[in-house]
Amino acid sequence: MTVKQVLMVGAGRVGRLHTTSITERLGHRAQVTALVDPATEVAQTLATDFGIGHVYATLEEALAGGTYDGVVITTPTFTHRDLAITSLRAGLDVHLEKPMAMNLVECRQITAAVQASGRRLQLGFMRRFDKDFQAAAELLASGQIGRPMIIKSMTHGPGLPPAWANDIRTSNGLIAEVTSHDLDTIGWFAGAVPDTITVKVANFKGAERGVDTPNFYDTMLATVTFTNGVLASVAGVCPADYGYDSRVEVTATKGMVEVGDTGPGGLAVVVAGQGTKAEAVYPSWRVRFAEAYVREMAGFVDAMEGVTPAVGAAEGEQAVALVVAGVQSLLEGRTVALSEVTANPTIPGWQV
Ligand SMILES: NC(=O)c1ccc[n+]([C@@H]2O[C@H](COP(=O)([O-])OP(=O)(O)OC[C@H]3O[C@@H](n4cnc5c(N)ncnc54)[C@H](O)[C@@H]3O)[C@@H](O)[C@H]2O)c1
Repeated sequence: MTVKQVLMVGAGRVGRLHTTSITERLGHRAQVTALVDPATEVAQTLATDFGIGHVYATLEEALAGGTYDGVVITTPTFTHRDLAITSLRAGLDVHLEKPMAMNLVECRQITAAVQASGRRLQLGFMRRFDKDFQAAAELLASGQIGRPMIIKSMTHGPGLPPAWANDIRTSNGLIAEVTSHDLDTIGWFAGAVPDTITVKVANFKGAERGVDTPNFYDTMLATVTFTNGVLASVAGVCPADYGYDSRVEVTATKGMVEVGDTGPGGLAVVVAGQGTKAEAVYPSWRVRFAEAYVREMAGFVDAMEGVTPAVGAAEGEQAVALVVAGVQSLLEGRTVALSEVTANPTIPGWQV
């Protein structure tokens, strides 16, 4: 196999992470040959750090300036649709970060472009590449511990995300930016499609952090029901300050399975800066899922070599359906049936 040429679109937090994985761990199979980011300084710094020879301000300039096997898109959610469709139409395989897009109208346009192009699209749900998450999914699918009954999934992120990710107009907020991983996991573990979602949110830290964005929330609790009767809860907190905390517990008819811990060594009680074992807390998602991110990029190299990705547009779309129905639920204070948003998708009112 030839070494695959990757175009990295977005040189922010995730662009740097995936560039690091490809360069330091997968260099024998792929290399990042060019970067796209309109933030010139950010892009130049990343390019210098990894010896990347070409930096462009737009995807179109990069496509005109070079040839590639695939595109890794790590930009804000509101840019995903256009960048993914342009890349697919250029005949390139795509790794697209979660959430897939802002709404189901955009998701379906991306899915149509995947189908029309015949290229492969991998969605950035790195938990699908984490060995513990994979083992739990296999255990549940095997029936060894019976049928799943209730799933409790939570993700607490350490610090405030970039400003665009706090605003429901440009990202749908925390339910999408932090807990879309959980929304994907619960469907994966339930082995069914979601039926309804009810979301409650709160804002504890916004004022003290100077966030005055309308509808900002830093705390979220969702209840999701599935067509096979499984119940699930998803809890999200960001900023949590004490660390990055991602855990799932599934109770099944003959047993239970837990995935994740607060740190590599486990921990019972944590107070900001005074954890009983503060060194054991995962400081960020980059650390908790370090190996999963490398395996995810290896999965994308496989995709560029012709393998169907383990997670793609269908899973991305299901998570966005939950996000859109969830934001509708929190704004309207009611339970929302998924069919309300999937039957005839429109651009949600808060995004217009
Ligand atoms: N899988 C994960 O664990 C994980 C973690 C964090 C973020 N994310 C996702 O990754 C994506 C990026 O998040 P981030 O935290 O890296 O954001 P970021 O703000 O740190 O970086 C985004 C970068 O994209 C650039 N950009 C904006 N528009 C662009 C365009 N049209 N073309 C090229 N570059 C453009 C910005 O200048 C910025 O440098 C989001 O979809 C986010 O939800 C995933």
